[in-house]
Amino acid sequence: MRVEPHPLIEASSEPAPAIERNAAHDVVVVLDFGAQYAQLIARRVRESRVKSLILSFDAPLADLQGLEPKGIILSGGPASVYDPGAPQPDPALFDLGLPILGICYGLQTMAHLLGGETGPTARREYGRTRLFVDRREPLFAGLEERLTCWMSHGDAVLRLPPGFVRLAHTDGGVIAAAGDPARRLYGLQFHPEVSHTPWGGEVLRAFLYDVCGCRPTWTMASFVEQSVAELRAAVGTGRAIVALSGGIDSATAAALAHRAVGDRLTCIFVDHGLLREGEGEAVTAVFRDTFGIPLVHVDARERFLARLDGLADPEAKRRAIGEEFIRVFEEEAARLGQVDVLVQGTLYPDVIESGTRTAARIKTHHNVGGLPERMRLRLVEPLRELFKDEVREIARQLGLPDALIERHPFPGPGLAVRLVGAVTAPRLARLRAADAIVREEVRAAGLQRALWQAFAVLLPVRTVGVTGDARAYGDALVVRAVTSEDGMTADWARLGDDLLERLASRITREVPGIARVLYDITSKPPATIEWE
Ligand code: XMP
Repeated sequence: MRVEPHPLIEASSEPAPAIERNAAHDVVVVLDFGAQYAQLIARRVRESRVKSLILSFDAPLADLQGLEPKGIILSGGPASVYDPGAPQPDPALFDLGLPILGICYGLQTMAHLLGGETGPTARREYGRTRLFVDRREPLFAGLEERLTCWMSHGDAVLRLPPGFVRLAHTDGGVIAAAGDPARRLYGLQFHPEVSHTPWGGEVLRAFLYDVCGCRPTWTMASFVEQSVAELRAAVGTGRAIVALSGGIDSATAAALAHRAVGDRLTCIFVDHGLLREGEGEAVTAVFRDTFGIPLVHVDARERFLARLDGLADPEAKRRAIGEEFIRVFEEEAARLGQVDVLVQGTLYPDVIESGTRTAARIKTHHNVGGLPERMRLRLVEPLRELFKDEVREIARQLGLPDALIERHPFPGPGLAVRLVGAVTAPRLARLRAADAIVREEVRAAGLQRALWQAFAVLLPVRTVGVTGDARAYGDALVVRAVTSEDGMTADWARLGDDLLERLASRITREVPGIARVLYDITSKPPATIEWE
């Protein structure tokens, strides 16, 4: 197995290309067939320094051609090509003369439309699978003949379309890769984009560089230049506000927007009373005092608490918070005058988990599905297609302080989604105090960077304890700590007995009303990171 340097790490040392050069970046379009993987593919393309754009599988061919792509990737998807209503690309796609790489379902739909046959294989292949290369050129050049890949499919290609040859197979005899070199059409049954296929990047790069002829010019600096230009165009001559939450996403969106329109941007920081300890002060210090960006601090604590009164259902709480946020922004925008754009730091995982036309809803992220249908402000989301670690890289490019960049993600609805059940002031105070202890101990143990998140969750469960000689009857509190690459999947963190013991003893001793501490050992999936 070869270990490659992460391409994004090198990116920061490159000078930012001029905006006009953006037109010169080669583009590859990923057609989305409904896989949670489509964005991951786009991200792997970006990591290979080629600009990637995602279109829905049924986007008109004219739209696709308008982007002047050098190649097309067809993503995987949950359907079977014979399902009624299975997503299909326009068959004319294959006559455009462009190189195409189909991945999993992408390969199957291509084979199906070009006269091959797909169907269920005798044995389903899931997880790590052995793969044998039949022909190295062009996709497997430089790789071993025997490899391990990540499979996840029920169907596979059973008979190749005319003109195609097999490029690799699995030990179960399934066609793992195939291609028609004359037409530059290729397909992979395995997933080259997942980290469990460690050499998958080389196959993708072979497609991008050798088959499509793309040049590796796209960097995070290019991204910054392009989004600054787009933000400038979106705001026009008016004014914009940005919703600052204290997290890295909104901070990065704010820094980009400030670069684009300068003082025509006002940051709005809404204290909804659901923040962690010290959060409000930290945000104000960075933006108003360090960067000198105009910042309005809105104290909306009572208003949000009143809005949440009587709500215990997670989705109802999320929607209420999303809606209340927008109302506050609208009022502030009206006060400032001439504001018609709201910049938000929405990330791709927020979008996909809130549900799209082809992906199921996991939970309504306050800044996506939680938005009211009728909004007076125009929403601009420069980070909508990115993952958290890409955003951290951009934040570094923009010169945001390390302390902010390394902060753990904090959800927009704040402590409300870590307070299972009703949101009340005393419960909030209890959770905030316990959470501060978790964060303090994690930092003291030197684990801040190794963990994706570490926090406390208050349960609506009362439990009996004993303090001194007396009976205690208090709340149960959960400590949750996870490692993750991008928040899409996560593993519970092995914190060690000493730290866990310290947490339990400090929290029960220092936070009145908490009688018991539990540690959450569920990964994502099947659980999500937050409890609600
Ligand atoms: P879940 O709980 O879905 O969380 O596994 C994945 C990551 O997203 C964060 N998260 C949110 N971030 N608004 C946000 O800005 C939200 O509504 C929201 N919900 C979850 C969560 O903290 C984790 O890092």
